[in-house]
Amino acid sequence: MNSVNPEGIEPRRDLVQKIEAWDGRWGRLVLERLRVQMADADPAHGLEHVQRVVRNACLIATNLVNSPGLGGARRVDFEVLLPAAWFHDCVYVPKNSAQRSEASRLAADRAVVLLTDLGYPAVKFPAIAHAIEAHSFSAQIPCRSLEAQVLQDADRLEALGAIGLARCLMTGGSMGQRLYHPEDPFPTVREPRDDQQSVDHFFAKLLKLPSTMQTESGKQIASERAGYLAAFLEQLAQEIGVPIQLPSEFRGLQSGSVG
Ligand SMILES: [Fe+2]
Ligand SMILES: [Fe+2]
Repeated sequence: MNSVNPEGIEPRRDLVQKIEAWDGRWGRLVLERLRVQMADADPAHGLEHVQRVVRNACLIATNLVNSPGLGGARRVDFEVLLPAAWFHDCVYVPKNSAQRSEASRLAADRAVVLLTDLGYPAVKFPAIAHAIEAHSFSAQIPCRSLEAQVLQDADRLEALGAIGLARCLMTGGSMGQRLYHPEDPFPTVREPRDDQQSVDHFFAKLLKLPSTMQTESGKQIASERAGYLAAFLEQLAQEIGVPIQLPSEFRGLQSGSVG
């Protein structure tokens, strides 16, 4: 446990042990609370989403050991990262609600109440609350900690790859959107309107996500998963018989493998 190599970087197995130890102590208790708390969440933002974000966060955090330049000083505190990941969406605010930009602050407040109830160490609350507040795209709060960066990346990965594609179409469908604009499916002569067409969301937001990632590991996975979305758009273009020219920053993503 806690062995550190000469560069001050913890071996991956120690990180995995820390995750397992946290899970053994808190995992079941946290899951019980969340099942009650998230009973009303929509299918794209429910418990399965949270479980995948926790998995992504662990994947990124354990990959940090291989990130050059991070060094031992930047070690993830799993007692902050894991509860923050589990509770990051514990207050549900619909995507089209005026209160949307408040959602992550409300979730941070609620997480502290729920964790207090569980007897969780209060000394971790400010860092947990910050990571939750900063995870959201719409809150526009800069990350001030490595845990906040990892959680933000972990959540953003959910908008990419096969899961991102499915969630985008499910959410668009539930809001009554059409799949694509009938005259200009891949916005060329107009600004993307992702409140009207699901495919426009790829151009307004999803394909830009890799450039917003905070960690090297997150960026790498994001690029691979954005490649999957770009490949979907190219296939769609072929099937509907409309040529597609992906903007220059998206070119090359198609060659990425599915992450
Ligand atoms: Fe969220
Ligand atoms: Fe989320």
